[in-house]
This record gives sequence, C-alpha cells and structure tokens, in this order.
Amino acid sequence: MQKMTHPPLGLSSILHGLIYMVSVPFLLGLPCGAHAQTSGVSKVDASVQRQAERTRMVDSQLASRGIKDPRILAVMKKIPRHAFIPPAGHRLAYRDHPVRIGHDQTISQPYIVGFMTEVLSPDEAHRVLEIGTGSGYQAAVLAELVKEVYTIEIVPPLAVRARKRLDQLGYKNIRYRIGDGYQGWPDAGPFDRIILTAAPPKIPAPLLAQLKLGGVMIAPIGRAAQALVKITRTKAGYTRESILPVRFVPMTGRAQKDD
Ligand SMILES: C[S@@+](CC[C@H](N)C(=O)[O-])C[C@H]1O[C@@H](n2cnc3c(N)ncnc32)[C@H](O)[C@@H]1O
Repeated sequence: MQKMTHPPLGLSSILHGLIYMVSVPFLLGLPCGAHAQTSGVSKVDASVQRQAERTRMVDSQLASRGIKDPRILAVMKKIPRHAFIPPAGHRLAYRDHPVRIGHDQTISQPYIVGFMTEVLSPDEAHRVLEIGTGSGYQAAVLAELVKEVYTIEIVPPLAVRARKRLDQLGYKNIRYRIGDGYQGWPDAGPFDRIILTAAPPKIPAPLLAQLKLGGVMIAPIGRAAQALVKITRTKAGYTRESILPVRFVPMTGRAQKDD
C-alpha cells in the first residue's frame, strides 16, 4: 500500500512533479529557445557567467520550491553542471529540465537531483549505491556529501566519460562499475542509501537486500506511469511511500523482465 507522507510534499511539490512530467517529453523532443551566448567570451568571463547561472538555478529552481538542506544547495551551487553535458548542450545546463547526454540518455532536471538527494538525507558517514551513473552529476553531488559513492552504469561509453570527468574534477571517493545495476554491488554492500536514476517496473530484489537496516532507497518506479518511491528498511521489513509523479528513462537489462 502506498502512502503520501513525505514532509516536503505539499501541493507545490506535486505541481513541480507535474511540471517535470510535462517538460520531459518536450525536452526529449527538440530542446530549443533563446540561449546565453558564450562564444567570444574569455574563459574567466565564462566561468563567472556559469557561476551566476548556477546561483540562479539553485535559488529559483530548488530553494524556492522547498529544497531546504543548505549543504545540498551549496553543493549544487558549486559543481559545474555544464561540465557533465556534451559541449553542444552547455547552454542548456542550468535550465529547468533534463538535458540529453547522448546514447538516448539524459542528465536529470536540477530540481529532481536536489529533491532525490534531500529525500536520502545524506550523512558524511554514509556509503551510497547509485544505479545509473549517466553523466556523473548525481554521483558528484552525493560524493560531496557522503563518505563513498558506488555507481553502476550499463552504457559503457557513458560510464567511461563520467569517470574521466569525475577524475578530472578530483573526486576520489567514487567507485565505478560498468554493467547491469540490477544485481547491485553485493561485495560492497550493504549500503546506507541507494538511489536509482532509471525506472524499473518494480524494485529489483537484490537492491532491497543490499539496503542496511534503517537505510533509505529512492527510486522512480513504473513504466508509462511512474512515481518516485521512498523505501525504508525497518526491523519489520520495508516501508514504501510514493512521493512524486515523475518521468525517467527506463531501467534496461534484467529489470525489464520483471512484471
Ligand atoms: C536519467 S539517466 C542518469 C542520470 C545520472 N544519474 C546523472 O546524474 O546524469 C539514467 C541512467 O541509467 C542508466 N541505466 C539504465 N538502466 C540501467 C541498468 N540496468 N544498470 C545501470 N545503469 C542503467 C542509463 O544508461 C542512464 O545513463
């Protein structure tokens, strides 16, 4: 039985979820619109401009919509999100929607990254498993807030590119694996937190088993209709809260065999 009990989930969160659902099909079609011109601008000017875009993104897309954790807001102001997107998409990096990163995949909307991170309530002692490295941006956000991030990506070129980027940015507390995240990372588990950034039809059983007692998992679940679901492992089993309607890319591989 699903229940809507997560504290920040008022009408405005639900509206933002709906906005997200509307924006994804548009973006997965043809990103368009006016854009900031950076050609001909010096590197220093461009970096000042990017910082201003990041600050605006955090203030207008996250803080104003109820993301409260100051550590998450600070980290998302700091990390150069555009560096996680192929150059043709840099002008879209700080906009209020997902952006294509190649191989039919996207970097998630900034608000969704902030929201999922806040639901996880990360702690500096935590070890976190992420399924769906993608661009590496969510891994970077988590790596700033927790002890270790274990991230798995099924599309090899994306995994290689993300690792290179994260290495260049100096992240030393991220471990990488290429493959199907369905089985999780048994030899490194159990984990304090687990995050899925691609949607399976149902939560893979091996991932549930790798969640620590008291641990929290956040995942988009479903096929056509998806919800962001928060799962907490308790002594009695698992509690499940459906907290936001969303639209994510499907989790491919073994997950597609689950009904
Ligand atoms: C929305 S994108 C990732 C967003 C990413 N966290 C970021 O910050 O850019 C989802 C990613 O999940 C990956 N994925 C899909 N199914 C997977 C699976 N079974 N195992 C691991 N990764 C998977 C996709 O290839 C894609 O890169």
